[in-house]
Amino acid sequence: MAFDLVFFGGTGDLVWRKLMPALFQAYRHGTLPEGGRIIGVGRDDLSDQQYRDNIQAKFAQVDGDKRPNDEEFARFAALLCYVRMDLSKPEDYAGLKARLAERQTDSVVMYLSTAPSLFTTVCEQLAASGLNTAKTRIVLEKPLGHDLASNRAINAAVGKVFKEQQIFRIDHYLGKPSVQNLFALRFGNALFEPLWRREHIANIQITMSEELGVEKRGGFYEGTGALRDMVQNHALQLLCAIAMEPPINAHADAIRDEKLKVLRALKRWTPETLSQHAIRGQYAAGNVFGQAVPGYRDEQGVNPASTTETFVALRTEIANWRWAGVPFYIRTGKRMAAREAHIEINFRNIPHQIFQSPAGQVNKLVIHLQPKDGLELHLFAQGQSKRGAGSGNQTLTPVHLDLDFDSRFGSERVGAYERLLLDVLDGRLNLFVRSDEQEEAWRWVEPILQHWAADPVGPRPYAAGTWGPSASSAMIARDGFCWGEES
Ligand code: BG6
Repeated sequence: MAFDLVFFGGTGDLVWRKLMPALFQAYRHGTLPEGGRIIGVGRDDLSDQQYRDNIQAKFAQVDGDKRPNDEEFARFAALLCYVRMDLSKPEDYAGLKARLAERQTDSVVMYLSTAPSLFTTVCEQLAASGLNTAKTRIVLEKPLGHDLASNRAINAAVGKVFKEQQIFRIDHYLGKPSVQNLFALRFGNALFEPLWRREHIANIQITMSEELGVEKRGGFYEGTGALRDMVQNHALQLLCAIAMEPPINAHADAIRDEKLKVLRALKRWTPETLSQHAIRGQYAAGNVFGQAVPGYRDEQGVNPASTTETFVALRTEIANWRWAGVPFYIRTGKRMAAREAHIEINFRNIPHQIFQSPAGQVNKLVIHLQPKDGLELHLFAQGQSKRGAGSGNQTLTPVHLDLDFDSRFGSERVGAYERLLLDVLDGRLNLFVRSDEQEEAWRWVEPILQHWAADPVGPRPYAAGTWGPSASSAMIARDGFCWGEES
């Protein structure tokens, strides 16, 4: 299956940090379809060979075993070429057209790894140059807008040129093997389904914490913040995967229809819930692994009086038969105590106790997404030691079953961008976000953005290297629960 894969923003960060290494892995695994060409597009004046040399130099920064040796790179590099373009100049599209006309392909993928402000222009120019044929697919990287109106404007502009089936909106969380396992856990196993509902589940917690700060992205992050950067997309996609009804089949629209229903059923915000259930924080100076780190306001490119949030904790509910009344908590932040993404499903207590359960502990299923990828099922057992035997001690001991997918599946696993790129080349839309899902997610976060914009208090400070401001723990404590690490 011959393809041309065009990277707009071909000299940018995402291309060399994520996309090229992912394509190289697919090439090494023998899963990249044969007869492909990867065309970098950028403003620099480079020959094909100079582009290959630049990419090779960047590969030196890729993790050890993922790095190609010289011979491997030489073979991979034969797929790479380069077209110089200023994307805002209509006349420059002719060069790309000529390059694409050099050979016959089954598909042409236009991957927009550029500033979103260019999405509309690029789509219009592709159409004007006749490059939006039936075999063209377009891939859009986030952020797709900064609010509902701008998101709709982008979707409308792209939708004028491409059909929805040709549009691949990336949320890289959906490509993670752990997130696909979440679908497998729910829809490939009978065990949990009878329990997966309000009658048995007390609350659900989604945590996505990072140890890193904003690094060199201060300028971008200032206008974005954690709600737009992590919640509107990744966190809500995880929430959908947890809460959606079983789709009728594994086709893209069947899955996306069910996710959309969850987003539509999210409880709408009221002035009261906005003030009580939408907590924002901003990291202050602190310690991460014994190293002193600066606060957000002292980071490069950040306004010293910034009110951009680097932490968010939210509480919501899903108004449908399966979930009514069950709190869903979402929390994400930078410069927190650990790099972790996990989902905790906390089950209700048993209806009648004959043993003593350890205080504050419940049965729970922890779905680890990263860095560990696996499942932990927390149960109670009669773990009496010899000393306790016969003393009539009826206190149960918490124990857990631990399933580690990394050691089970090891090197056979495929990284997020590798998975997603192969799916684009294959035309599979399952792991991509449809425009109506994306708009619904914006519709839900927008009242929070507006509430914060009008709130003179600003985000609450938290010391770097902690789990965020105390208001986040207070919010969940009001329901009689606590975050996983506090139990
Ligand atoms: C990106 C955000 O979408 O996700 C970043 O823009 C964030 O700010 C990153 O660091 C987290 O992704 P991962 O895969 O490292 O959890």
